[in-house]
Order: sequence, then C-alpha cells, then structure tokens
Amino acid sequence: MSRFWSPLVHSLSPYVPGEQPKLDDIIKLNTNENPYPPSPRVKAAIASAADRLRLYPDPRASLLCETIATHCDVAPDQVFVGNGSDEVLAHTFQALLKHDAPLLFPDITYGFYPVYCQLYGIRYEEVPLDAQMRVQIADYRRPCGAIILPNPNAPTGIALAREAVERLVAEHPDQLVVIDEAYVDFGAESAVPLVARHDNLLIVQTLSKSRALAGLRVGFAIGQRPLIEALVRVKDSFNSFPLDCLAIAGAVAAIEDDAWFQQTRVRIIASRESLARDLSELGFEVLPSAANFVFARHRRHSGADLAAKLRERGVLVRHFQKPRIADYLRITIGTEQQCSRSIGLLKSLI
Ligand SMILES: Cc1ncc(COP(=O)(O)O)c(C=O)c1O
Repeated sequence: MSRFWSPLVHSLSPYVPGEQPKLDDIIKLNTNENPYPPSPRVKAAIASAADRLRLYPDPRASLLCETIATHCDVAPDQVFVGNGSDEVLAHTFQALLKHDAPLLFPDITYGFYPVYCQLYGIRYEEVPLDAQMRVQIADYRRPCGAIILPNPNAPTGIALAREAVERLVAEHPDQLVVIDEAYVDFGAESAVPLVARHDNLLIVQTLSKSRALAGLRVGFAIGQRPLIEALVRVKDSFNSFPLDCLAIAGAVAAIEDDAWFQQTRVRIIASRESLARDLSELGFEVLPSAANFVFARHRRHSGADLAAKLRERGVLVRHFQKPRIADYLRITIGTEQQCSRSIGLLKSLI
C-alpha cells in the first residue's frame, strides 16, 4: 500500500493465475497448457522473423488477421488480434460489455471476468449453473446489458451445442453475447459460423491451448465489423503494438500447420477420455468434458487434500477454494505417461 495509489488500485483484487513452478521434474497439470510442443514450423518462423527486430511490428498484424480469416472462413476485417485472449477479453469488457444494465455470466466460470468488471467499473450478475453444473440458456432470460460465457465452460469443461448458443444470441438481439472459446478445439462446436447472421455475437479464441503457444501470447476475436472496430479503437488508445513480430510470425506458422494441430488435438482428446474412465473407476464423479482438462470430485476425499497430496508427490493440479466447487480438482490433460503417473498416484492415495 502507498499514498501514491489511486482509489481504483486500492479496490482491485487481481486474478491469480495457476502456479508456474521453477522445478523441471514436476508434472504440471494445473494451467491447461498443451503437453505437446507447438508445430516445429513455429520455431523456424520465429527465427527468421528475428531479422526484423529493429523495426516496429505491423500495428494491425494484418498477415495474422488474414491467416485467421482464411482458417475461420471470415473476412480479415472481422478479426481482431491481441496479446493473449486475456487482453482481447479485457478490451472487449471495456469496449463492449459496459452498460447500465448488468453483464451476465455463470457463477462458476473463468475467474478473470469479475476482475475485469472491477477494473472497468462494470456491473454484473452471476447466473447459477444448474445442479449438474450446466449452463441453462433459459436462466439468461432476464434484463441485462450483455452476456459472456466460455464454451466449453471453465472450469467445468461442459460444452453447449451450437444450436443452444444460437438460441441465446437470438433471444437477446439487443445485447452483445460474447462466447469465449478458449477450449473449443478439444471437442465443442464453434459459434464462428453464426457470426455472419448475428451482429450481436463476438467469439474469442486463443492459441495458448490447442496450438500449444501459451508462452507466445496470442488470442483473437471474430465478429461483425462494427464490433471489431470498437476493439481496434480501444487497442489503439492503449498500445499500438500488442503483438511483437516474433508472435505474429509464430502464430501464422502455427495456424498454417493444420496437420500438427489435428494430430495433437486428437491425441489429447483420446487421453482425456481414458483419464476420465480411470478416474471414474477410482470413484471420482467426472463432469463430461469437451476441453483439455477434466473437473472431478471424489466421494470420500476432499479436493484440497488430494491436491496437496499430489503436489507433495510432484503433480500439480488446480483446486479452487470456492463455494460449490471446493470438492473438485481440475486436472489438465497431460501426455499419456503423465496421465498414467497421476492415476497411479491417485490409486495409492484413495
Ligand atoms: C476460459 C478462458 N478464457 C481465456 C483464457 C486466457 O487465455 P490466454 O490469455 O492464454 O489466451 C483462459 C486461460 O486459461 C481461459 O481459461
């Protein structure tokens, strides 16, 4: 604390990301990173972009916007890129989600949403997930300024069908609906094809998970042009160059290597299904996941206790000391070996 702090700084409770330990021999299943490396083409592209470090990067990252547009079958000016999807989300909150009526999001969801609301002075209401931890579209039929949902939701991993997302968007023609698709590539249906017919829909995605580039910090949004223009206006009032030239080159290479993307994605999905089966056999209740993690609780053992015991044995998983989910563990899908080591340890603890 200091007398130089503005009143806003006093009022903030910042988001706390999962631990990034210094130890190399730890099995790190706590922050939903990809257990496999990015496409080898990424390294080569970054190495050759390093020749251009003397120059400022392209402030609009046009090459990356064009590459994403081709991949998603939209126009390049329907794409906005930023320094991780967290930055894209931050600009979205400021540019598009601040209204007189409250913003709605689930009571159990990505922990950054209330933090952005506090930072930007946005009123919000949490809409409880149902007893099975699912989003019910009908629960959002209430006065609001806008809606944001991850799909699949985090940390539950449960996905909504595209048809349900479209119903939500159609039921709120005068409110923006933001779908945060950080984990969509692991088995959910993207709402990107709906953007052409809904001017109140914005999709946010990241290269941190399915493209294995959490360290490069690249995320993007897709929506109709006026929404993208709002994000560009905020970004250009904040930082002209959020993506450096290495990040732009690496991201383009990752998106272009579709074969690598498909191989690693399919492998993670297969590991998730076998991890979920093994956990169920050990007496865990495992929520149906369409993400690169599972959310599970044990009938007899507390989440905090299991997380602490796994940690002592070199396996990091995520535990949230929060109402409704304090019994659960969120376990990121690791390599096949990491998954079987974790199951072996859990067997010995249960
Ligand atoms: C639901 C959700 N959205 C967005 C993000 C941010 O990802 P990044 O900033 O790495 O793109 C995360 C990260 O874990 C997430 O879980």
